[in-house]
Amino acid sequence: MGSVSMATPVQELATDGQDPSERYNYGGSGGGALNASVPLVEIPTVDVGSLISSPSAANHELQKLSLALSSWGCFQVVNHGMTDSFVDRVHEISKQFFDLPKEEKHRYIREPDSIEGYGTDMIVAENQTLDWIDRLYLTLNPPNQVQLKFWPEKPETFRETLQEYGVKLGELNQILLKAMAKSLDLEENCFLDQYGEGALMTARFNLYPPCPRPDQIIGVKPHADASALTFLLPDKEVGGLQFLKDNEWFTVPIIPHALLVNVGDQAEIMSNGVFKSPVHRVVTNSEKDRHSLAVFCIPSAGQEIKPDEGLISETRPALYRKEFGVPKTKAAGLSQGPHLRATTWEIVRVSNQTKYGIVPSSLLCILHKNNEERVSCR
Ligand code: OGA
Ligand code: NI
Repeated sequence: MGSVSMATPVQELATDGQDPSERYNYGGSGGGALNASVPLVEIPTVDVGSLISSPSAANHELQKLSLALSSWGCFQVVNHGMTDSFVDRVHEISKQFFDLPKEEKHRYIREPDSIEGYGTDMIVAENQTLDWIDRLYLTLNPPNQVQLKFWPEKPETFRETLQEYGVKLGELNQILLKAMAKSLDLEENCFLDQYGEGALMTARFNLYPPCPRPDQIIGVKPHADASALTFLLPDKEVGGLQFLKDNEWFTVPIIPHALLVNVGDQAEIMSNGVFKSPVHRVVTNSEKDRHSLAVFCIPSAGQEIKPDEGLISETRPALYRKEFGVPKTKAAGLSQGPHLRATTWEIVRVSNQTKYGIVPSSLLCILHKNNEERVSCR
């Protein structure tokens, strides 16, 4: 691996009035500007209240859910059991943290070789294109992996609000994993059993400051999530998240107080490829800050992830092969993410060079299947 270092937070660059360095120049999107307008994603909205109510109401929601999971791999969740005012509080702690003076935020700065804490993405290669994003990355679960020293003490409500949000999402994750199993006529606990006790839950607060060159600079490069499920609380006013389908980008409409849930690689594997772990990216804008909070639900470290037996047949063999350990040369520098344990996507390298540009290798591995390449990021 190249040397690991930290860039200046983008928020500080955005206010210093200088032109961003060439290192942020990602280039346009297939010849066009990155911020060109793209069509809206037509993804269903799933009502969790109905999902857990009477069987007939639930059936209707399950159908919407299964269509969403097998086409886009994402859906918006409403009636999720959290009040609007609670969701607003979660938005607030993110804004209040990033609005703190620089010195206060720097108390939580991550260590150079670890992702936990506040800072920019790792720089692992001299020619790496940088993303226009600052993050605060925190582990919520299991309790013995929580590093409280990175949890902001300001705003004062930060810790308790995030803690409560994590508990709520844990419940939602269970409801959805059960519903996902039911939507495939499987025993409702089959995915949850693989997911395991003591699963990992991590939170990534993202800040995309106003960007002077939204046509050329990207917020987050295209990637798929290495989670089982990702719960995203997108900005209530500022868009920017896009999903790739059939080689075309689509933008996610904003539904205030809804959560956007997307399938990650682990759920794709467990469903034998029926659920799609979608490639997505974030574009920037020159006007406003954009805040989002991504929470990744990741099967516990000891779990073996594999396609459920009920989804394997003669006509549809297991698409994901179990791999016991990854050759050291391939896994060098990568923490043992669950995405390394089972896949027919051959892990060709853990590196920073992808077809989308250079990305920090400690956060991802590059998977190949036939001629397809995927960047899996955690
Ligand atoms: C991520 C991600 C999307 C967003 O953090 O993995 O895809 O809208 N975020 O910030
Ligand atoms: Ni993502």
